[in-house]
Amino acid sequence: MQQLNHQWNTKLYNEKHSFVYDYGASLIDLLNPKPEERILDIGCGSGELTAAIAAVSNEVVGIDFSPNMVEKARAQFPALAFQIGDASDFKLAKQFDAIFSNATLHWVSRYKEAAHCMYDHLVPGGRIVVEFGGTQNVEAIINTLRSTLRLWGYTEQAFLDLWYFPSIGTYTSVLESVGFKVTFAQWYDRPTELVDEKEGILDWLSMFAKPFFKGVPEENAMEIKKEVQKNLTTQLFRDGKWYADYKRIRVVAYK
Ligand code: BEZ
Repeated sequence: MQQLNHQWNTKLYNEKHSFVYDYGASLIDLLNPKPEERILDIGCGSGELTAAIAAVSNEVVGIDFSPNMVEKARAQFPALAFQIGDASDFKLAKQFDAIFSNATLHWVSRYKEAAHCMYDHLVPGGRIVVEFGGTQNVEAIINTLRSTLRLWGYTEQAFLDLWYFPSIGTYTSVLESVGFKVTFAQWYDRPTELVDEKEGILDWLSMFAKPFFKGVPEENAMEIKKEVQKNLTTQLFRDGKWYADYKRIRVVAYK
């Protein structure tokens, strides 16, 4: 698995993939933040969920690996604290009562280091409330992308292993090995409606699967994306809408 540092297209993210933070609202319910709590949001993106937590809690910090996401978050929510930070290697001056993370940890190849970092940044009794892609996440999309890249002769790109999608058994064991006590773990199927009825899968690939197209000329990349979308019709197009085959894991654990 590779650690990635690609440039996020914040416009495409906010215009067509806002479901990433829209779905995160129910994770905030699980976090159940309190006014006096100090909370860290790991992978804050453009800051929407950080702001929702900050509407309740007095001290909230958002970190993200992507400088352009942090820039966008600061522009949208200038009163809040955002920093560039790597989930597997960050050092903040004070500990937190809770750490929240939505749709980020599957990007973190050094997941053991990330678990240690979270543990170290919690006060005793502090908690993590996290959700990210679990086993079989976006399997139909990625299998179809890989087979299409192979057909076009892009064998190397087809082998790219970008994400960490663990089972709850695997991930809770990682957390326990670090010292966490896991109190809640869930894997669930969450077909996710994509905004554009014509180009849903195409947009998703442009937003999230850019590294698979490294070295692929733009005109070929566009044809490959169109083919992938066409080949997914039976599996992922229903009632005039495209759905990404998301599977999530949700975990709550205490220090
Ligand atoms: C996800 O949120 O599950 C996800 C997003 C982008 C790429 C892979 C997975």
